[in-house]
Amino acid sequence: MPMRFLDEMDITGKRLVIRVDYNVPMNGSEITDDTRIAASLPTLELALSKGASLVLCSHLGKAKGAPDPKFSLAPAAKRLSELLGRPVAFAPDCIGPEVEAMAAALKPGEVLLLENLRFHPGESKGDPEFAKALSKMGEVYVNDAFGTAHRPHASVSGLPAEMAACCGGLLLKREWEFLGKALENPVRPYVAVTGGAKVSSKLAVLEHLLGKVDELIIGGAMANTFLKAQGLEVGKSLVEDDLLDEARRIIEIAAQKGVRIALPVDFVVSLDAGKPLNEMTASATVDAKAIPKDAMALDIGPASVQLFGKSLAAAKTVVWNGPMGAFENPHFAAGTMGVAKILAGLDAVTVIGGGDTDAAVHASGLSDKMSFISTGGGASLEFMEGKELPAFKALRECGK
Ligand code: 3PG
Repeated sequence: MPMRFLDEMDITGKRLVIRVDYNVPMNGSEITDDTRIAASLPTLELALSKGASLVLCSHLGKAKGAPDPKFSLAPAAKRLSELLGRPVAFAPDCIGPEVEAMAAALKPGEVLLLENLRFHPGESKGDPEFAKALSKMGEVYVNDAFGTAHRPHASVSGLPAEMAACCGGLLLKREWEFLGKALENPVRPYVAVTGGAKVSSKLAVLEHLLGKVDELIIGGAMANTFLKAQGLEVGKSLVEDDLLDEARRIIEIAAQKGVRIALPVDFVVSLDAGKPLNEMTASATVDAKAIPKDAMALDIGPASVQLFGKSLAAAKTVVWNGPMGAFENPHFAAGTMGVAKILAGLDAVTVIGGGDTDAAVHASGLSDKMSFISTGGGASLEFMEGKELPAFKALRECGK
């Protein structure tokens, strides 16, 4: 079954249950970043323009299956109302007769946000009974929660099949088009830029990318493991010694497939190993073959940025997942910012995997120069591993 999206559906006057991802960062009851709420507006506005009424549901934080005031979605209702410019009612729970009555009373153009789904254990367990209870809130299911697309939870996996019709929202559609279509059938040359701290969290992504890309750039602390696997000294740098064989295997597979691998040729190092990151300072820029024994590599150096820039110059599709260094500390941000600048200047489709890379691109001030920035951290990573995420599987199957 092909997946359907909101802009292909007849939703005039219908009551929609929309799974959003309002898992926003909070400081007490204050929302510190409302990006995810703002990202849901195109879907909500399209549905409202068709005279639909909306029942929104989401999780917030790691609530443990019982009500917990610090994870209440009430502040999200208030923020959404400000962004949407219309009232947003808030339900004290997400299932049960009282909430069903509130949902049933909605008139076209009205919006109701339900309390945190994770206040019930059935959500995280994917309990079919919990999905059934949620399905009573409306007629058409819409999933617009890409950040949660990798969770086989009741509101993601079980709920769609319980409802009369289902589809993806506009946010989910954009994620699908860029992470799915653009990267599955890329315009070539296709280059992947990978980074971040650990090879272990990216192994599956690297393997999947090797079957797709023309060149794989490896930066960040991940690169240390690859360099050590090739016999280089990496001093006190972060290394996963148990993955040296895996790193050698990746290099071998790349050679078999004719995929070029580019590794850093220089690093910004610190002699402050052992101190908290925010107290570390840079001591030198050194050649990758000459990292001193007592030094820790914390960023790629300028020659590496230049080398990666050469690889990227002709690229027509680029995916970037993982920063080039510990960019949270300004001493070690230049490599990541340099790569952001290169991507921003390319005549190519540039796709940014979520999480840390999203934060880095925002910090660079170049977000609007990228073709697409994913709203999902774990979800975009699993997508890039080539897995079918539970959200997309459920949307494909719900119309059967
Ligand atoms: C996220 O922030 O990555 C998503 O909202 C998923 O949240 P979770 O990791 O708590 O399931």
